[in-house]
Amino acid sequence: MRKYLLVIFVGVNLLLGGVNGRFYKDAEREIATNGMSAVGDPGMRRNGLRVAFEAWNFCNEVAHEAPGMGSPRAADCFDVSNSTLLHKVSEADNKLGIGKTFKGLSTEAMHRPDLYAVEKELYLGSLCEVSDSSKPWQFWMVMLKNGNFDTKAGFCPENGKPKPPFTTSKNFPCFGEGCMNQPTLNHQPTQLLGDGTMRGWFNGTYDLDADIGKGLTNLSFYEVIWEKTLGSGSWVFKHRLKTSMKYPWLMLYLRADATKGFSGGYHYETRGMLHTLPRSNFKVKFSLEIKKGGGPKSQFYLIDIGSCWKNNGEPCDGDVLTDVTRYSEMIINPDVPAWCSPTALVNCPPYHITPNNAKILRNDTANFPYGAYHYYCAPGNAQHLEQPVSLCDPYSNPQAQEILQLLPHPIWGEYGYPTEKGQGWIGDPRTWVLDTGGLASRLYFYQDPNTPLAKRRWTSIDMGTEIFVTDKDEEAEWILSDLDVILL
Ligand SMILES: *[C@@H]1O[C@H](CO)[C@@H](O)[C@H](O)[C@H]1NC(C)=O
Ligand SMILES: *[C@@H]1O[C@H](CO)[C@@H](O)[C@H](O)[C@H]1NC(C)=O
Ligand SMILES: *[C@@H]1O[C@H](CO)[C@@H](O)[C@H](O)[C@H]1NC(C)=O
Ligand SMILES: *[C@@H]1O[C@H](CO)[C@@H](O)[C@H](O)[C@H]1NC(C)=O
Repeated sequence: MRKYLLVIFVGVNLLLGGVNGRFYKDAEREIATNGMSAVGDPGMRRNGLRVAFEAWNFCNEVAHEAPGMGSPRAADCFDVSNSTLLHKVSEADNKLGIGKTFKGLSTEAMHRPDLYAVEKELYLGSLCEVSDSSKPWQFWMVMLKNGNFDTKAGFCPENGKPKPPFTTSKNFPCFGEGCMNQPTLNHQPTQLLGDGTMRGWFNGTYDLDADIGKGLTNLSFYEVIWEKTLGSGSWVFKHRLKTSMKYPWLMLYLRADATKGFSGGYHYETRGMLHTLPRSNFKVKFSLEIKKGGGPKSQFYLIDIGSCWKNNGEPCDGDVLTDVTRYSEMIINPDVPAWCSPTALVNCPPYHITPNNAKILRNDTANFPYGAYHYYCAPGNAQHLEQPVSLCDPYSNPQAQEILQLLPHPIWGEYGYPTEKGQGWIGDPRTWVLDTGGLASRLYFYQDPNTPLAKRRWTSIDMGTEIFVTDKDEEAEWILSDLDVILL
C-alpha cells in the first residue's frame, strides 16, 4: 500500500510538471524511510560522503600509470562524529600504484597497471563500504576518460579481440607517442570549514609537465569539487572539464555504478552506489545546472545509462568476445544535431517504440521521429544487422558496444525528458525526475533473431559531458546534486 501511494505521488507531480510540491517531499521521505531507493545515499544527503575517482584511457584501461601518481583510482570517504570527519582512506592508499602491495592484491596484478587498477578499486571499496543494511554499497564514482588513441601502441582490442599495432587513415586524435597517458591527480581530502560547510576536491591535467597553478591556457584540466552543509541539504558536485590541442577529446561523468558485478563499460568486477539494479520500473531524480556548455562538440549527457548483455540476450560474464556494452544517452547540448534523418537511415535505430508500445519503422517517413535520435550504432560483433547500419567504434571499449543517442523531442515528454532543444541548458537549471525505466524498456537494442529477450538491468547511471574532438580549447562547467534512483 505504501508502495502504491508512492507511485501516485510521483506520478501526480509529473503531471503537474513540477517537482517541488509538498507531495514530492512526502514521497521523498517515504523513500528515505522505506529503502525504496536503488542507491546507497538517496539524494546525496548523507553527511558521511563516499566518493571515488577513476581515470580511463581510450579503451577503459590504464596501460601506463602517470609518474608519481599511482594507479588512477582514489577515494574520499568519511563518517562524521561529533563534528569531526573520520577519514577511511589515507593519502598513502590513494597513491598506491604498481609494485606496492595492499591487502588482497594478487601477485598477478602487482606489476600490471590494468589489473592493478581493478584490484585497487576493490580495495578502496572495502575501505569505503557502508554495510549497515543487507545491501552494502561503496561510493559515487567520478569517471574521467582521455579519448586519444595511438593505434601504433597496441593498447586497445578490436571488438574485444587482441589487436596488434596498426596504421589507419581514420583520424583518431593523438599527438604522438604517449598521447594515451593518465592524468595528474590532486586531492583535497574533505574538510569541515568554520561555517559548517564540508568541502573537498579532485583535480588535475593530462599535461604532465604543466603547472596548473599558473593558469590553464593551452592546458587540459578537470576538477570536481564537492560541498555540503553539515546536517542539511545535498552534496553539490561542481565539475569543470577543459580540452586542449593535445587532448581534444575528454569525458567527465559522475556515475552511480553497480556495487558488484560488471558495470557498463567494464569487463571486470567494480564497486559503486547501485545496491539494487534498476530494470523497467524506476525514475532518476537529480538537479543539474550547466554553467558552461563546452562548445558545439560537447555531447552533454543529461543522463547516460549503461549495461552489458550478449547478443543472444544472456547476461555478460566477462568474456570480451561475446559481451556487449550497451549505452543510451540523452544529449542536451542544443548545438548537437540529429544525424538520423529520412535521408540518413544509417544513423537511425531500425525502429522506434511509442509509450503505447506501437512500433514505427525508420522507413515510415510520415511517422518516425527522426529528430529524436542523434545517432545509433550497432555492435561490431552482431551477425544479423538490418541494413543500412553504422557500426560502433570497435576500439573504445574493452568489448563490442552499442550506442543509442537521443535528443530532446516532444515524443520523450511522456517520460519527463526534455521535449525541446535548450531545456535544461545554460541559464535553465532544473530538477529532473526522469522515467528512465519506462523509456529504457522501449529503446531499440540489437538482439540475435529468435533468442529470449535480454533482461535489461542498468548497471551504470551517470551525468556529465563528452567533449568530442574539438579544434579549439573548450571548457564545460556544471553542478550536479540530489541524485537518486527511485524504484517504483
Ligand atoms: C565533542 O567535541 C567537543 C569539542 O571538541 C568536546 O568538548 C566534546 O567532549 C566532544 N564530545 C564527545 C562525546 O566526544
Ligand atoms: C587544484 O588542486 C590544487 C591542489 O589541491 C589546488 O591548489 C588548486 O587550486 C586546484 N585548482 C587549480 C585550478 O589548480
Ligand atoms: C597557446 O598556444 C598558442 C598556439 O600554439 C600560442 O600562440 C600561445 O602563445 C600559447 N599560449 C600560452 C600561454 O602558452
Ligand atoms: C521498410 O523496412 C522494412 C524492413 O524493416 C521492409 O520490410 C519494408 O519493405 C520497408 N518499406 C518500404 C516502403 O521501403
